Amino acid sequence: MNAMGAAPFVADLVISGGTVVSGEASIAADVAIAGEHIVAVGRPEAMPPARERLEARGLLVLPGAIDVHVHFREPGYTHKEDWATGSAAAAMGGVTTVFEMPNTNPPTRSAAELAEKRALAAKSSVDFGLYGLLAEDNLDELEGLIAAGANAFKCFMGNTFGDLPAPSTGAMLEGFEIIARTGLRISLHAEEATIMARRQARLAAAGRNDPLDHLLARPAVVAVEAVGRAATLAEWTGARIHILHISSAAELRPLAEAKARGVDVTGETCPCYLLLSREDYGRLGPLIRVNPPVREAYDRDALWHALRSGVIDMIATDHAPHTPEEKARLPIWRADCGFPGVETQMPLMLTEVARGRLTIEQYVRLAAEAPAKAFGLWPTKGRIAPGAHADIAIVDPKRTETIRAADLHSRAKVTPFDGVTVTGVPVHTLVRGRLVQRDRRFVSDSSGWGRPVTEIQRMPTPVLRNADLAIDRLAPRLPLARSAA
Ligand code: NCD
Ligand code: ZN
Repeated sequence: MNAMGAAPFVADLVISGGTVVSGEASIAADVAIAGEHIVAVGRPEAMPPARERLEARGLLVLPGAIDVHVHFREPGYTHKEDWATGSAAAAMGGVTTVFEMPNTNPPTRSAAELAEKRALAAKSSVDFGLYGLLAEDNLDELEGLIAAGANAFKCFMGNTFGDLPAPSTGAMLEGFEIIARTGLRISLHAEEATIMARRQARLAAAGRNDPLDHLLARPAVVAVEAVGRAATLAEWTGARIHILHISSAAELRPLAEAKARGVDVTGETCPCYLLLSREDYGRLGPLIRVNPPVREAYDRDALWHALRSGVIDMIATDHAPHTPEEKARLPIWRADCGFPGVETQMPLMLTEVARGRLTIEQYVRLAAEAPAKAFGLWPTKGRIAPGAHADIAIVDPKRTETIRAADLHSRAKVTPFDGVTVTGVPVHTLVRGRLVQRDRRFVSDSSGWGRPVTEIQRMPTPVLRNADLAIDRLAPRLPLARSAA
C-alpha cells in the first residue's frame, strides 16, 4: 500500500532499450504496457515496475502497420485464405490492424452478410475493420451496413477478382450521398470498366495472350478517368474517398488536383508498384498479373516521388492470395489477379529504408499514422504514446532474411518476391498488449484475440455539400401508397 492506500502500480510489460519511432522522430525510450494500452513512454528510470521485460536493445519500436487493403477470402474462397491464416501472415509482417475487402462469396453487401463476416473474423489474431460493398444493386442496404458497423465502403469501378459489376456513375452518386452523411471513407478500385472490357476482348480475339497483354488491356487512362470521376462525386457530395493501389504516374495528376480543390481524398500504393516494373513480366510470367497492372519504370519512379511529397498518403498491400495453380494459368486472361503481400510489406519497405530511399519516420507515417488518421483510428492506433493501444512492431533493422514463398503464413504460398533478400524484419508483434508474433514465430494461441475497430473508430464530422439535392431526400424510396389510403 502506498500513501494513497492503493496497491503500487505494476505494468504487465516494459519494452526496454529500444528506439521508439513516430512520424516525426526516433528517440531512445522504454515503453510500458498495462493490459491493452501503452501507459508510459520514456527514460528507463521513469518506467513503473513490470511483470515482464522485453529486451529491445538495437531494435526499433514502431506502431504496428495498419493495412487498409487486404482480402482474407472468408467466406467463400477459403482454399486461398481464411481469417486465421491471413491474420497470422499479418502478425508475422508487423501488421496489427487490417481492413478487409468485400469481394468474398457472398460479397459483403448487406447487414446480414457483414454480421456473418464479423463472426468468421472472430478467429483473427489482429484487429480488423470490415468494408461494406457499394454496388449498383445494394443502395437500399447501405444504411443497414452502416448500422451493422461497416468501417468503410468499397466500390469496384472496374472488373477484378470476384467479378463484381461496376456500378453506374448514377448509382455511385446516390451511394456517395448516403455514405457522406456518416463521414465513413469510400475506397475506390479506380479503373474504368468499359475501356478495359473492350480492350481485353479485342486483344484476346486477336490472339494476344501473354502476361504483358494484361498491361496493354489496362492502360493508365483507365485510372485517370476513374480517379477524376470519383473525385468529382466526392467534391459534389462531401464524401470522403480513398484511392486504392495507385499504380501510375498519370493518375497522380487528378489525385493532386482533387486534393488542391479541398476534396477529402487519400491514396495508397503497394510494394509491387514500387518495386516491380515492365521488366519483370518475362521473369515472373502470369504470377505478375494484378489489378491494376505493374507498369513502366517511370511510373514506379513517380510513385516513389509521390510517397515522399505526400501526394500518396499511405502504403497498403492489397494482400490478394490465390493458389500457385491459380496464378500460373495461361493464357494470361485465365490467371487470377493479385498475390499475397501482408507478410512481406514491412520487410520490403524497411529494406528500402536501409537503402536510404525513405526515412524510418516517413515509413511510420505511411504505414501507420496516415491510415490511422484517414480511417478514424487515431489517436487510439497508429502511435506509440500513453493511452494508445499497444499495437507494436518491434523491428531488427539489421537482420537479413530471404523471402521464400513456401515459408509464408498465408495459405497461398506464392509471391513475386520469392528469393529476395530483405534487410529489416519485425521480430515481435504486439496487438493490444499481447504478443501475436515472438522471435519470428507466430503465437498460434493468439487466434481470436483480434477485435473489430468499430468501438474505437471516430470519423470527424463530415462537411456535406449539395445535401439538399440528395435524391433520397427529394424522392424517398418509402411506400408511396400510404397517402392514398
Ligand atoms: C484483388 C483480389 O484478388 O481480390 N486482386 C487484384 O488483382 N488486386 C482484387 C482487387 O483489389 O482488385
Ligand atoms: Zn482493387
